[in-house]
Amino acid sequence: MPQTLYGGTRNRRVTVRDLALAKERGEKWPMLTAYDAMTASVFDEAGIPVILVGDSMGNCHLGYETTVPVTMDEMTMLTAAVVRGTSRGLIVADLPFGSFQEGEVQALRSATRLVKEAGAQAVKIEGGERSADRIGLLARSGIPVMAHVGLTPQSVHATGYRVQGRGEEAASQLMRDAKAAQDAGAFALVLEMVPAPVAAEVTRALQIPTVGIGAGSECDAQVLVWTDMAGLTPGKLPRFVKQYAALRSVLGDAARAFAEDVTTGTFPAAEHSYE
Ligand code: KIV
Repeated sequence: MPQTLYGGTRNRRVTVRDLALAKERGEKWPMLTAYDAMTASVFDEAGIPVILVGDSMGNCHLGYETTVPVTMDEMTMLTAAVVRGTSRGLIVADLPFGSFQEGEVQALRSATRLVKEAGAQAVKIEGGERSADRIGLLARSGIPVMAHVGLTPQSVHATGYRVQGRGEEAASQLMRDAKAAQDAGAFALVLEMVPAPVAAEVTRALQIPTVGIGAGSECDAQVLVWTDMAGLTPGKLPRFVKQYAALRSVLGDAARAFAEDVTTGTFPAAEHSYE
């Protein structure tokens, strides 16, 4: 029986070559974000083949309003935690805003830190054509790069959170960005918030896998931010999110039950106490 990327029994980490072979087989695969060792270990045990330490940690873990303030120190520390919590998933660490915009040397220094100090097996960088020189240098230096086009949240102050790639000119720019990333040496491409038919065309045009988020069902892989997927994120979520659990109410109920037990003297009981 051929070994599949998701649910396969491997006692080694997934590699970028495994992802290339999955595209050849037409096998779709899931990716989730994680920002700490324990959550990452749950996803690793569940067989999620690729775990992204996204700069969405800014909004989902660190209490910032956007991804923009996330620093290299924060990314390095949380990536190292995710690596420690996993043994099977390919760990991709985001290059945060300000860690690669200065040029190739800065990008190489930042990516090297994530791979060498934190233990990531790959990095993710926002931009297609505009980041192609840096994708090229990292790839030639032996650092696998996942590129990210469409909505790129680090540019939120310029673009807002809006669907990208709508209309003929925008769709052609998206295709140019996708091909530039592939030609520069990216091993995969995130497509965020782009019309499904445009994402499908990009997916057909590329040899490398596309990873959609709000990009329809034709992408080779799908990614969600874990706190959105598990129902922990408060407030209104984007249309592309599907919630698979209601963790916010489960945790809230647990906290209220604990508080009730403490205030009524029910906890700790004899079985929780030492003689
Ligand atoms: O930071 C992140 O979580 C991401 C995904 C949404 C792709 O970039």
